[in-house]
Amino acid sequence: SAAPLIDPFARPITYLRVSVTDRCDFRCTYCMAEHMQFLPKAELLTLEELGRLSNAFVDLGVRKLRITGGEPLVRRNIMSFFRAMSDRLGQGLDELTLTTNGSQLARFADELADCGVRRINVSLDTLNADKFAAITRWGRLAQVMDGVAAAKAAGLRVKINTVALKGFNEDELFPLIDWCGEQGHDLTFIEVMPMGDMGEETRLDQYWALSDLRRRLESRFTLTPLAERTGGPARYVRLEETGQKIGFITPLTHNFCESCNRVRVTCTGELFMCLGQEDRADLRAPLRASPGDEALKDAIRAAISRKPKGHDFDYSRGVAGQMTRHMSHTGG
Ligand code: GTP
Ligand code: 5AD
Ligand code: SF4
Repeated sequence: SAAPLIDPFARPITYLRVSVTDRCDFRCTYCMAEHMQFLPKAELLTLEELGRLSNAFVDLGVRKLRITGGEPLVRRNIMSFFRAMSDRLGQGLDELTLTTNGSQLARFADELADCGVRRINVSLDTLNADKFAAITRWGRLAQVMDGVAAAKAAGLRVKINTVALKGFNEDELFPLIDWCGEQGHDLTFIEVMPMGDMGEETRLDQYWALSDLRRRLESRFTLTPLAERTGGPARYVRLEETGQKIGFITPLTHNFCESCNRVRVTCTGELFMCLGQEDRADLRAPLRASPGDEALKDAIRAAISRKPKGHDFDYSRGVAGQMTRHMSHTGG
């Protein structure tokens, strides 16, 4: 097939994140504004168009597809998209997966498993129902817990994504680890990135460096670094005492852009070459210009040829590299 996608820094692009909606049923404070202006439905690509786009990327060498949002499972008829993309598993695609807030999993877990999804990432920052309602602005923890249980029952591996938040979940480090251990879930901690319209505030107020979190872990456990990766930015350790796998996503304390393998498309067909930069390419026009994919593939190759080196996030001199775009626009 065609030459694989290689960016200007010799990084092969093999991982596509597809945001299928900008909407979400929660409003996590570090991800969205309370009153979000959502895109008019008429601007969205259809699921067929998102499928064509994703297929073009797989033709160009993408091997891992992660469906994101907003919350991907609130997009109407989303299972038809998973069903369509599952045809590419073993036909270019190694992994089809999603990142979800878990709220709709009780409804969709069996079908996801049936579409060849094996492993899902669920965002969960606290095990306390009141704190959960506060961070999501109104979410019900019990609904997410039911969703996670349904995913496990459907045979899906679950990785919990926890954004490390100062003054919010520092006191839950060990409870989260214990719960994941009991349930058999992997757990990854994430440093909060300075994204989204924050008015006078900055994410610095919420920032809890994972170097500190890690030291706290080491006070109770023996950590063995693992070479194993999951294709994303996380680095993993094993807790020797329990055998659990814990991941760290450290855009601030340890930049991982050097090994970047991914780009993201939004539900309107914008291609963002880097999460931490504004530069984007419009894929909707070439997608709609002709029923063949040549113009589309040319536009993808051209965009990859200008993928930036990395983000400029830095909290060490005030906040550098801050983005007004919300995380929910690209799904992280
Ligand atoms: P795995 O397949 O389990 O490795 O997942 P993943 O880490 O690739 O994806 P996930 O959706 O779980 O993302 C977890 C966190 O990593 C989110 O906060 C994302 O915003 C962040 N993240 C993912 N990709 C990138 C990236 O390219 N750059 C930066 N700075 N953050 C990223
Ligand atoms: N910084 C870091 N991670 C974030 N997420 C959302 N907003 C931010 C942010 N500002 C996480 C969500 C989810 C993933 C897709 O991105 O918690 O797990
Ligand atoms: Fe890749 Fe940009 Fe993320 Fe760095 S910030 S890992 S270059 S997408």
